[in-house]
Amino acid sequence: MNPSSLFKAAVAGTGSYLPDKVLTNKDLENTLDTSDEWITTRTGIKERRIAADNESASTMAFEAGKKALSSARLEPEQVDMVIVCTSTPDVLFPSTACFVQKELGAVNSAAYDISAVCSGFVFGLSIAEQYLKTGRYDHILVIGSEANSRIVDWSDRSTCILFGDGAGAVLLKKTDQEEPVGILSSHIYSDGALTDLIVVPGGIGTTGVNKQDIDDNKYFIKMSGNATFKVAVKRMANVIQEALDFNEIKMEEVSLLLPHQANQRIVSAVAEKLNFPEEKIYMTIQKYGNTSAASIPIGIADAMEEGKIKPGDVSVLGVVGAGLTWGSAVIKW
Ligand code: UT7
Repeated sequence: MNPSSLFKAAVAGTGSYLPDKVLTNKDLENTLDTSDEWITTRTGIKERRIAADNESASTMAFEAGKKALSSARLEPEQVDMVIVCTSTPDVLFPSTACFVQKELGAVNSAAYDISAVCSGFVFGLSIAEQYLKTGRYDHILVIGSEANSRIVDWSDRSTCILFGDGAGAVLLKKTDQEEPVGILSSHIYSDGALTDLIVVPGGIGTTGVNKQDIDDNKYFIKMSGNATFKVAVKRMANVIQEALDFNEIKMEEVSLLLPHQANQRIVSAVAEKLNFPEEKIYMTIQKYGNTSAASIPIGIADAMEEGKIKPGDVSVLGVVGAGLTWGSAVIKW
């Protein structure tokens, strides 16, 4: 059972931002040796959003963050911390979060990025949970934002069809309310032995940024799809089960599973392993593809807007991403 803490970390606001430009599977048929049928049956994706030339991880994060603040009816000056979870930062440094902080006017916050790729949002949520439960801070904005279209090789059909751009944000607040509410638990893990599964090999390394790496396409996503798929199903199922056991919650008590959106078949396999009904799983992959760290907070914001999350409901979040990283969180709304 969750050890008691001084305070609770409750969700006070949510928001998402998706770029206007839609890239459909049919569009991809014009440039790649692929088909709508292959992409739909292998992944569940029908279309994804692509950031405009003047959009980036920070601009999308700002839009999502602004909506989360507005839905929480909170002034930017009241935010104590801005955590942006991204693998597609605007620049190497300063952090994307600092650009977002400036645009929001969150002048009293500490702002920084989390790099845990697709698992970033759950990692960020877990950090925020600790600061709020100890009473150190009152309000923390956690944002997942990705401009994945800028790091996919558009000639590699095995990866480029999967990813999309977007941002999602959650505003968490400290509360001393007695009944269980907010983040009931979070579990986060990494296994650096699996760094090769999904990687963007370009970076600073020992040589610095160099033209050869650019010519060798090292600044694009490389993925061992099959191997990642198998690991993802196992780790996500296990970490969700761990979350339920930790909180002594039965599967029937969960109103909504909000999984990372990497592949419809991964989610279905996890659901089957856990004996969890598909109708209680919230999916956005068909319209947004894999938006990496943004996928879970976008799901939360969309589910909230559609009235699929009600006060008192319990949701479970589950994710696996590059690193390898994985994690889960249980939220009581
Ligand atoms: O968020 C980060 C975590 N990421 C993931 O969890 C992704 C996990 N992996 C996957 O989702 C799947 O492995 C993929 C969707 C990437 C691939 O699906 P798959 O069922 O594992 O396909 P495969 O890689 O085994 O490829 C099967 C065939 C191959 O052709 P041959 O060798 O059988 O002739 C591929 O070349 O499908 C071919 N293929 C395609 N065909 C049409 C690969 N991509 C495409 C494509 N269109 N876009």
